[in-house]
Parts: sequence; C-alpha cells; structure tokens
Amino acid sequence: MKTILTGIRANSELTLGNYLGALLPMVRLANKYSKEMNVNIFVPDLHSIISSVDGDLQKNIYRSIRYYLASGLNLNENVHIYRQSYVPAHSQLCWILNCIATMGETSRMTQFKEKSEGRESCNVGIFDYPVLMAADILLYSAEYVPIGEDQFQHIELTRNIAMRFNNKYGEIFTIPVKTKEQVQFMGFDDGIRVRDLLNPEKKMSKSTAAENSKIMMDDDPDKAAKKIMSATTDSLGKIKFDMFNQPGISNLLLIDALVTDSPLQDVISTWSGETKYGDLKKKVGADVAEMLREFQSNLDEITDDMIDELFQDGEEYANKIANQKLTEVQKVVGLR
Ligand code: TYM
Repeated sequence: MKTILTGIRANSELTLGNYLGALLPMVRLANKYSKEMNVNIFVPDLHSIISSVDGDLQKNIYRSIRYYLASGLNLNENVHIYRQSYVPAHSQLCWILNCIATMGETSRMTQFKEKSEGRESCNVGIFDYPVLMAADILLYSAEYVPIGEDQFQHIELTRNIAMRFNNKYGEIFTIPVKTKEQVQFMGFDDGIRVRDLLNPEKKMSKSTAAENSKIMMDDDPDKAAKKIMSATTDSLGKIKFDMFNQPGISNLLLIDALVTDSPLQDVISTWSGETKYGDLKKKVGADVAEMLREFQSNLDEITDDMIDELFQDGEEYANKIANQKLTEVQKVVGLR
C-alpha cells in the first residue's frame, strides 16, 4: 500500500495558511484514499523545539490532532496518528542521513536562511531540520507528502538525499514524488501559498506582528471577516487572478476556493469582469467566518482521552514500520 504522510509543527495556534495549505488538503486526501493507502499524520514535536513554543507544548500537541478531527478526518485502520518523539527511529535515521546530506545543500534551504536571519547565534537544530524531515518521510516510504509551497524545497532535498543513499547502498528508500506531482495529487494546479493579508507579497505567517495580517484558527469568526475586509488590494479596479500584479485580490480568490472546496477556476470565472472589491471581500469574509464557526464548534467534542487512544495505536504501528526500515538502513551501512 502506498503512503500519504504529513506533519504540522505544534508551536502555536495555527494560521489560516497552515490550515488551508496543509491540514485541510491532508484531511481531504485522507478521506478520499484511506481505504487504499496508509495515511500517516504525525506531530513533529522534535521540530517544534528548534524554536520558541507559544504556551504549553503538550497542550499544543493535543490541539494539533484535535484540529484534524474537527476538520472532518475520518478514522479507520489505515489512518495512523503519532508523535515524532515517541518513535525514536526518526532521530536515529536523521543521524545516518546527516552523513549523506551535504552542508552546501542544507545551507541553501530558504527556510533555514529565513529562520536564522538576524540571529546572533542559530541552533544546529534549525540547520538540520530538513534532514530530520527527510527521515520522517523516508522511514515510512511515503510517496505523497501534502504540504504548502514553502516546504517544497524540503521535498526536493529529501528526494536528493534518498537517491544519493540508494546509489551508494542499493534500493532502500522509496523516493517521494516530485513536487509538481505532489501538487497534482493534492488536486491543485500550483502549490498553495496563502498570503499575508496586509502585505500580500509575503506568505501568511504567525510570526508577523500585525494582527490584521493573519487569520488564526481561534479567531472570533466576525473578527476574521473584518480582517478580510481590511485586506490590502490594489487600485486596478478589476477582479482578476494575477498573483504577480494583483496579489491581494488573487489571495482572496484563492482563500475562497480553498475554504469552500471549489475549483479555483470556478471561483475565478464567477468573479471575472467584476469590479467591486468590497463585494468580493464580503463574500470571502462570510465564507471564512462560516468555516471558522463550524470548525470551532466541532473542537469541543474531541477529548484528550480519544487522542490518547489514537496515539497509542498509531505509535505502536509507527514504531513497527519505522524500526523495520531503520534496521534495513543500519544493515547496509554496516552498523548491524
Ligand atoms: P510548519 O509547521 O512550518 O507548517 C505546517 C504546514 O503549513 C504549511 N503552511 C502554509 N501553506 C500555505 N500558506 C501558508 N501561508 C502557509 N504557512 C504554512 C506548510 O507548508 C506546512 O505544510 N517541516 C515542517 C513540518 C514537518 C513535515 C515533516 C511536513 C516535519 N516533518 C514531514 C511534512 C512531512 C514544518 O515546519 O511545517
């Protein structure tokens, strides 16, 4: 059986970007394919500690899984939910891959450059985080990794590390598909990058200080709609999907397509030729508010006990699969 796998760091409340770029696509893929594929959803808690954590990491970890369930994830025996640090093989394989990955390729990662920029001293974890990510993926022979556009470089790095390893030691790792195919598998034409509402040149990010630049998943729905109303647009006066010349308007069209689960082309055609930006903002704001209202009302139904049960089964499964792959690797490298 093929495997779909993804993880979202549990450092803080999620943004609408995390939700639309990774969490919701994963839930939709899981519900579509979990009869015929393994669906691995894990909390990369070791990735969380490379940077500061807002609040209590334990609470955040449970919240992260609660979010998948509140978004309609259907569970069955092929859906596996686990925490990275409860599967020691991730760290063990990471070390071995560290001896395959090069300083040059890991230094080129945009995320590393962004996360280390301006820091007087940067921890080694920030530098090494894509190699751990490669271990997360390769241990389970995952071909499909639904992620937002900002993580594409890490998939390419994973592919390169895996191919280099296979060239040296034999066909041990399954190579995840190229990012273009990842996007197609997710049902999109392009990778998803939800933009900052005030500065649509940038991606929406929790770390941006301005409140109105981002929608958080615990935002009051009416407040979220107001943030959409105050989003930066342009002075061209026509609604057109053109990320280069009209990133603000294009971002709103994209958000609406994702929130309402409609093909982007349909949303673009509906608004094509329209000129009133206010009408578009009202519609997108209302759709985002409705989505948040439903999502937030589902959250209370999911208890920590339910999540503990999922972790117990998922971690038993994950340790079994991951240890098999790790042993194969240890043998060919000469460690066993
Ligand atoms: P993280 O936790 O930074 O982000 C989680 C997911 O959210 C997506 N994302 C966005 N998508 C669209 N628009 C945005 N504005 C936006 N902001 C964030 C990210 O692309 C990501 O998919 N290294 C990973 C976590 C990880 C992982 C893995 C993922 C660790 N191991 C193995 C997949 C497979 C990370 O830090 O994502």
